[in-house]
Amino acid sequence: MGELGLLGGTTMNARLLAWIDEVARLCRPDKIHVCDGSQGEYDQLCAQMIEQGAMIRLNDAKRPNSYLVRSDPKDVARVEDRTFICSHNRGDAGPTNNWMDPKEMKALMTGLYDGCMRGRTMYVVPFSMGPLGSDIAHIGVEITDSPYVCVNMRIMTRMGQAVLNVLGKDGDFVPCLHSVGMPLSPGQADVPWPCNPDSIYISHFPEERAIWSYGSGYGGNALLGKKCFALRIASSMGRDQGWLAEHMLIVGVESPAGEKTYVAAAFPSACGKTNFAMLVPPRGFEGWKIHTIGDDIAWIKPGKDGRFYAINPEAGFFGVAPGTGDATNPSAMASCSANSIFTNVALTDEGDVWWEGMTERAPAHLIDWLGQDWTPGCGRLAAHPNARFTAPLQQCPSTDPGWDDPKGVPISAFIVGGRLSKNAPLVLQAFNWTHGVYLGATMGSEATAAAVGQAAIRRDPFAMLPFCGYNMADYFNHWLDMGRKVNYPPPIFRVNWFRKDEQGKFMWPGFGENMRVLKWIVERVHGRAKAVESPLGFVPQYEDLEWSGLDYSRDKFQELMRVDQGAGVADAQSQEELFDRFFDRAPKEMLYERMLLKSRLWRAPAVWELDGK
Ligand code: GTP
Ligand code: SPV
Ligand code: MN
Repeated sequence: MGELGLLGGTTMNARLLAWIDEVARLCRPDKIHVCDGSQGEYDQLCAQMIEQGAMIRLNDAKRPNSYLVRSDPKDVARVEDRTFICSHNRGDAGPTNNWMDPKEMKALMTGLYDGCMRGRTMYVVPFSMGPLGSDIAHIGVEITDSPYVCVNMRIMTRMGQAVLNVLGKDGDFVPCLHSVGMPLSPGQADVPWPCNPDSIYISHFPEERAIWSYGSGYGGNALLGKKCFALRIASSMGRDQGWLAEHMLIVGVESPAGEKTYVAAAFPSACGKTNFAMLVPPRGFEGWKIHTIGDDIAWIKPGKDGRFYAINPEAGFFGVAPGTGDATNPSAMASCSANSIFTNVALTDEGDVWWEGMTERAPAHLIDWLGQDWTPGCGRLAAHPNARFTAPLQQCPSTDPGWDDPKGVPISAFIVGGRLSKNAPLVLQAFNWTHGVYLGATMGSEATAAAVGQAAIRRDPFAMLPFCGYNMADYFNHWLDMGRKVNYPPPIFRVNWFRKDEQGKFMWPGFGENMRVLKWIVERVHGRAKAVESPLGFVPQYEDLEWSGLDYSRDKFQELMRVDQGAGVADAQSQEELFDRFFDRAPKEMLYERMLLKSRLWRAPAVWELDGK
């Protein structure tokens, strides 16, 4: 882009050039750099961050070509109460989203952006969500003053000059503006993690398809291709255009006979999507293979053959580190064994990373996520609970060879599930599509961040509560509608890995053992597994699951699957609160399903157990 005096990549896209110019005049950076996405550029950005004390290169013998970053302790996660859907009408954002009038929000944020990049470089980051040039992919351009965002976007998306080439002279893109909100006056020294945590705004303009983010440099607040574009803006595009943008992993199951079945599953944040997407089949499942397509987001479209096809719009994992180890998720550990960025984990004396749950025993000494000395038993966590690794998808040993196929993979089942310690059975199958949509709509999950006391259950419909870019009631309706757009809508299942016993211990071993449930689901899809009818849905009996390789008694299974009539009715009652919020916009089908559930529960024995007991 020599003619404009910009560094890096080149573009002739008129709208992009005009937008770069407009943002530069507003934010007044010292320099402009258009990212070409090359390895050289990545290395140079990392070197620059190391020099500024913003990044640490890990020991190449232990973790080749990898880096550690520590954020400001006030900027460690997405901030839902600072996230806004700025549709023209408040009702189009719905009662579950924060709303502000788009004109008002733009006036307010223009004030914040005014001069906000002084003393910094403005990076232009062209990216494609989905395979480059595919007709289901969409292009975005993020303008940011954070080099950390640039290097993460290079792992998480298809990023750089190749995207500008596809964009051409007049290609369309979603403009995504981001600033950490900390200009530098001449001579002012930078801090390792610049941010402005007291005036964070994560704003979406669904009608014009634009994103404005200010004040935070962390995860979904700053990597705008992910939650902001691929979920909030894309869900609103999908509603208009007849497809779905979902907070779902995509995984393929291959039987010993070579039959491949793909499923998509919605679990709320930090509820096991990454683990399920790259599950390692346990003992007793020799010959079964798992194929990973994605661990966080699915774009799903009805195909010409009357089936749903799904792609993963991302190209990397931004995975929760704590709780991930060789014992629980060896494929995630392999994924981040090199070429990865770690944020808010601990540093070992050998220059490697560590976090709670990586190994059974903690090292004798660490530098924790705050940069302080740490020893086991010091009473603090070594890694922040939302510490993350950014790793290329292709490094996962189970990555599907077709992960980048623009056609996507055919989806044979949907799974929904939250984190519930009580009353929710391990698995059940919806009676039909409408009932399945109802199961998704009423999904509940316990807040994981709650450190002490009774965990509050929040309704998180389809794990999309913080990510739906329009009125959630219209979203339920859109799901009902999508079932009519395919020949045979896939069966919908609900799972819960997190039921606890009286001692507060998980009743289900989880992780790789979830394969036992997944196999039953796949066999149900193909009409080969049995189920019986319960008040909540179709459920397997003990005999219907594969138990070889695991010592799990019939009694324990019955305890895990138990449905208590009183608790079931109380839950159904409390759904009134959810649907009342949407008033007349909630689909009638949801209200009928709730009544049907109550009447089934009233007919059921006080405690509904399997095997007729
Ligand atoms: P986001 O990336 O935030 O959208 O979340 P995610 O759903 O991908 O979260 P992830 O898979 O990283 O889940 C993180 C936590 O879930 C870790 O603490 C894991 O140990 C835990 N986890 C995953 N699978 C299981 C399971 O089957 N059983 C139990 N008990 N815990 C699990
Ligand atoms: C989530 O919170 O669901 C995530 C992490 O996947 S972030 O991208 O930070 O939103
Ligand atoms: Mn997520």
